[in-house]
Amino acid sequence: MMVLGVLGSGSGSNMQAILDAIDAGTLDARIALVLSDRPEAFILERARVRGIPTGMIDCGGFQTKFPEESQAETARQLKDAGVELVCLAGFLRLVKRPLLDAFPGRILNIHPSLLPAFPGLESWKQALNAGAKEAGCTVHLVDDGMDTGPIILQEAVPILPDDTAESLHARIQIVEHRLYPTAITQIASCSDRC
Ligand code: GRF
Repeated sequence: MMVLGVLGSGSGSNMQAILDAIDAGTLDARIALVLSDRPEAFILERARVRGIPTGMIDCGGFQTKFPEESQAETARQLKDAGVELVCLAGFLRLVKRPLLDAFPGRILNIHPSLLPAFPGLESWKQALNAGAKEAGCTVHLVDDGMDTGPIILQEAVPILPDDTAESLHARIQIVEHRLYPTAITQIASCSDRC
């Protein structure tokens, strides 16, 4: 069974999808710890309801930066909880060293575009504004770039003529909720074999 740690700044619907897949028996894993940089993030509430330990990431008042000391402390908490695979789920800070070094090739992210297209924030709006025919989502390993690591799985979501940013994002999220647990299952089964 793969031991997961989740980092999130927002609603946590992707973490919920991971929990649902665990409950359904399609993902052999457990979430040992959920950490957030925002005390009001609903992802923390979702974890508490399930009795999953939670913790705060203190970024020393920085709005977007993830200071080295905060990353080192995050790595320590994840290691103490026995985490083997770190899942970023709507975590809004760029992960760098030393957290990357603590979990080499073991940090996953879900991004709402067909990477390498539209990295960065609100990718579904970027796709709409660019007049793209399709959007999508991607699960990838995290490296020290922005949304640049090796792709594990991705799936296209067509952009419909009457799509708004909200309707498109909602359809992307439906796919995300299937794709993320599937990607984790793939990594877990590879880890069992290797
Ligand atoms: C998702 O759209 C994900 O692709 C992006 O942030 C959003 C997180 O949503 N990285 P949630 O917090 O999982 O509901």
